[in-house]
Amino acid sequence: MRAVQIDRFGAPDVLGLVEVPQPEPGPGEVLIRTVATSINPVDDKTREGAIGEGAPPLPMRLGWDLAGIVVDPGDSGFRTGERVIAMSHHLSSGRGTWADLVALPAEAVAAAPQAASLLEAATLPLPGLTALQTLDWLEASAGQRLLIAGAAGAVGGLALQIAHARGVEVDALVSRDAQIAFARDHGADFVTTDRDGFEDRGYDAVFDTFGAFLTEAVADGGRYASVATQAGPVPDLSARGVRTTVNQVREDGTGLGELTKLVDDGSLRLRVHATFGLHEIEAAHERFLAGSLAGKIVVAF
Ligand SMILES: NC(=O)c1ccc[n+]([C@@H]2O[C@H](COP(=O)([O-])OP(=O)(O)OC[C@H]3O[C@@H](n4cnc5c(N)ncnc54)[C@H](OP(=O)(O)O)[C@@H]3O)[C@@H](O)[C@H]2O)c1
Repeated sequence: MRAVQIDRFGAPDVLGLVEVPQPEPGPGEVLIRTVATSINPVDDKTREGAIGEGAPPLPMRLGWDLAGIVVDPGDSGFRTGERVIAMSHHLSSGRGTWADLVALPAEAVAAAPQAASLLEAATLPLPGLTALQTLDWLEASAGQRLLIAGAAGAVGGLALQIAHARGVEVDALVSRDAQIAFARDHGADFVTTDRDGFEDRGYDAVFDTFGAFLTEAVADGGRYASVATQAGPVPDLSARGVRTTVNQVREDGTGLGELTKLVDDGSLRLRVHATFGLHEIEAAHERFLAGSLAGKIVVAF
């Protein structure tokens, strides 16, 4: 079977399509035929060697997101032929999803949405779980005021829609004028590109997706979560009673099931900027790197 592998770090031209043996699913694992995956910032950082210590050893198969068809369900309760999505925590497990067949723990897998194609569904697992788990940490509930920094990105755009569906009042910082309409259309009340526009607004919670560190925006006693690991820790706000974290995404089939329901009930709309074939993996990374995206880069198998 085919897999995307690197044997050294560097620019997209280090990505190689290689023939490797099929995985044998172990106890509790589901064997899935990959239909599509997508590119996340962590894949880019892993490829260029920016993760450093803690990355799996070379040669390394890449990939976190997966949408596909169950080939061997084992004793998981999934059915052969069922459409599923999954997120593999590639950095901790080394199980990259950019391969024709992938064996993953059943707990990391969920039924795919019926209302979306598998190409669209491949955009959901990593950014969706990051959005969901971070909103849960923020305890953002109906009627509360939430600010999302980077609300038109992959994580921020899903967080915006999930929070809106929960009845949270969401304001948004976006990077460009072209993103303002997206944020408004997906549930944000106040949207701006001006990072100084939020001081003294007293948000119950702030969800920071790019290391904006808008610490003046959060109310005393509030919560501030960043997911921009590489931007470093959130400043200590304990003197104001503000809890802070840099949240790290976890494998979570139950969370994926929640996301699937939100897609199927129309609360969550998925965005594909462009789709590349697996043989175009280098071009797919180049497009990801070029930026100015309005949705995710999907890779079809
Ligand atoms: N900790 C975790 O477990 C975890 C999980 C997932 C992701 N992450 C990290 O979270 C970050 C976001 O991931 P993502 O997939 O959502 O990336 P993304 O799709 O690139 O989203 C980032 C968003 O932030 C915007 N942005 C960047 N700088 C800005 C600025 N100065 N002002 C306003 N907006 C700005 C970007 O706008 P443009 O489109 O104009 O650049 C983009 O819309 C990445 O660093 C990723 O590595 C961490």
